[in-house]
Amino acid sequence: MTRPSTHVDAARLWQSHLSLARHGATAAGGVNRQALSDEEIAARRELIAATRDLGLAAFTDAAGNFFLRMDGREADAPPVLTGSHIDSQPTGGRFDGAYGVLAGIEAIRALRASGITPRRPIEVVAWMNEEGSRFAPGMMGSAAFAGAAELSAFLTVTDASGVSVGDELARMQKAFRDVPLRPLGQPVAAYVEAHIEQGPLLEQEGFSVGVVTGIQGKRTFRVTVSGEEAHAGTTPLRGRRDALLAATAIIQGLSRAFTDPDDILKFTVGRIEVQPNAPSVVAARAVFSIDLRHPDSARLRSLGDDIAGLSIDYGRPCEVTVRELSCAMSLEFPQPIRDLIRGRATDIGIRTLDLPSAAGHDARFLHGVCPSGMIFVPCKGGISHNEAESATASDLADGARVLADVLLDLAGN
Ligand code: GLV
Ligand code: MN
Ligand code: MN
Repeated sequence: MTRPSTHVDAARLWQSHLSLARHGATAAGGVNRQALSDEEIAARRELIAATRDLGLAAFTDAAGNFFLRMDGREADAPPVLTGSHIDSQPTGGRFDGAYGVLAGIEAIRALRASGITPRRPIEVVAWMNEEGSRFAPGMMGSAAFAGAAELSAFLTVTDASGVSVGDELARMQKAFRDVPLRPLGQPVAAYVEAHIEQGPLLEQEGFSVGVVTGIQGKRTFRVTVSGEEAHAGTTPLRGRRDALLAATAIIQGLSRAFTDPDDILKFTVGRIEVQPNAPSVVAARAVFSIDLRHPDSARLRSLGDDIAGLSIDYGRPCEVTVRELSCAMSLEFPQPIRDLIRGRATDIGIRTLDLPSAAGHDARFLHGVCPSGMIFVPCKGGISHNEAESATASDLADGARVLADVLLDLAGN
């Protein structure tokens, strides 16, 4: 037997990234492929077409997750899952998420080339709405699959133009009428997700593969500030209830309160919507997002719990309501999976660095239902959530090599 890793083809894996990146390609070389959009439908079609020769079975589920399954020798054994997501940020890159799915397909290609049918099935999965940019919060598909959230709670979430997750899931199902719908959730033997690091460490330290120790915690909120529409020229300043001014006061106040000289706590407001959004009307309503992250769960809990009270104070005289959209504490992946990833890498001469993930990933929710872990590869300058996101064919291939051998180990030779 030859190890599957010897059959990973760097040029082929690179080409698959370029090809998938055509769906939602932006002029600046990035990707805008929103969850459940036409672009994501086209990208899923491409994954099916590109793997036809591998004889994989495609499946979906009520949460719009998409699976490509390689049968094992034991048809009923719980599968080993690998993958990530193919939705993107509005100005996203070609590798965030896509790499995990394409590395999984490359690993199956390598397994086939080595002539091995493992004992367990192996499934490559593209989770629904990891990014949370079109529909908030993110990671809906993996959360619903793992039973960490009720799918019904997501169905009524709408995008900026009022289209709901439920309607778009129905449209996605219609687009793939011939792809069987499986019950949501299933026993999973193990989950390993490959991803670009989205930070600078691996590149700085000169490693092509990272063993992810865990994922830092994250809480997200939606803050709604309600004031009163008024004429910009005639309404005295003293009587105004300017929702936009109040929102900026809240953002400034929170950002001062959450200043961390050690740069560990991360507070981000990335979206704000104003109504009626007219130059000569005092804003009646402002809605903005908060993304709060800290690796220390107790700190994250107490800081997040302060947000509502502080926002109400800073937002006077407007009315402020704060709704928490998601709350995920820090986690550590199990040591045996980390050891396995490190061990298989060492076997093929790849040095690894252990590092935590500052970004969120679907592996967070799989961690709740099966032994899970992650493999990181470097990305240029640590830049991500940016059209300039970049990685090398050689690093991507190293990660896929380690993934291929790890999957075989988990699925059983
Ligand atoms: C995932 O995309 C994150 O925002 O961490
Ligand atoms: Mn991602
Ligand atoms: Mn992302």
